[in-house]
Amino acid sequence: MIEKLNEIRKQLTELLARDEIDEKALEELRIRFLGKKGELTAVLRGMSALSPEERPKVGQYANELRAEFERMLEEKGAALRERARRAKLERERIDVTAPGRTPKIGRRHPLEATRIEMCEIFRSMGFDIVEGPEIEYGYYNFDALNTPANHPSRDPSDTFYITDEILLRTQTSPVQVRTMEERKPPIKIIAPGRVYRSDEVDATHSPLFHQLEGLVVDKHITMGDLKGVLQLFAQKMFGSSTKIRFRPHHFPFTEPSAEVDVSCFVCGGTGCRICKGEGWIEILGSGVVHPNVLRAGGIDADVYSGFAFGMGIERIAMIRYGIDDMRLLYENDVRFLAQF
Ligand code: DAH
Repeated sequence: MIEKLNEIRKQLTELLARDEIDEKALEELRIRFLGKKGELTAVLRGMSALSPEERPKVGQYANELRAEFERMLEEKGAALRERARRAKLERERIDVTAPGRTPKIGRRHPLEATRIEMCEIFRSMGFDIVEGPEIEYGYYNFDALNTPANHPSRDPSDTFYITDEILLRTQTSPVQVRTMEERKPPIKIIAPGRVYRSDEVDATHSPLFHQLEGLVVDKHITMGDLKGVLQLFAQKMFGSSTKIRFRPHHFPFTEPSAEVDVSCFVCGGTGCRICKGEGWIEILGSGVVHPNVLRAGGIDADVYSGFAFGMGIERIAMIRYGIDDMRLLYENDVRFLAQF
């Protein structure tokens, strides 16, 4: 009987030594050798056939074996768990010396960045920011702005009409009159926003673009105030050495009117590719508000005067960033946008 027990012990030892054993197989071995219907129990059942002298010896040996089996199985289990732990650590190894992966973050669109910067500059000079509707009455877009009935800009080939009286505003200037109707002087506002014109798309035109309008109305406002404001704007936008130049022009809503150029911030005025050899770049239209426009806004033109200006935000962005094709601002190719 002792031999039989030793035989079982040998079996278990061999089975435990096998490499392919895993936790599940180990549990099966436990049941097979130590369970109620297991090998050891089966042998002990035969003990009744032994003599009374042999019985305690065999019993003691069997108990020792049970304890030994339990220890062997426990050791094997611990070894398996340790092996699994090492494998897991190996799998999850991280290289703390590896260079970090910088996440790609978005950035402002150059057009939006320009709009924000322009607004900030004027806000720092005390201008309020106001808005007006993109769907506008012909009255505000043209009549109230002293635009004659036969003016070419009214033609349906230039302006998107919704009805005879309602259109998509072609400029931000109508916000001037709307503001004068609502506020009394001193008025000092800018009005950024979308405008629409029936233009073919090319490098410098788009049927939808953006303008920023400015209006100041108070007592004793002169062309000198206009010059000072625009000089400061140009320096903040394009650099402190920027100069401005006024050229006589005509707009229905201002008298006198001027177009304003900035000295080329690339060549400083000597002429280059950006300014097309001119040394100057046109950036806006402006002037002293026509008395008819003040009156349309309900303001006494004998007491108050004002100046106004309007500029294209795309144009400012293109000059500012050296972009030579307006379409780039709308196509939103990330390879282009990522440069700003
Ligand atoms: N509204 C004009 C345009 O779209 C620009 C402009 C010129 C606005 C002179 C003004 C101004 O306020 O005084 O071309």
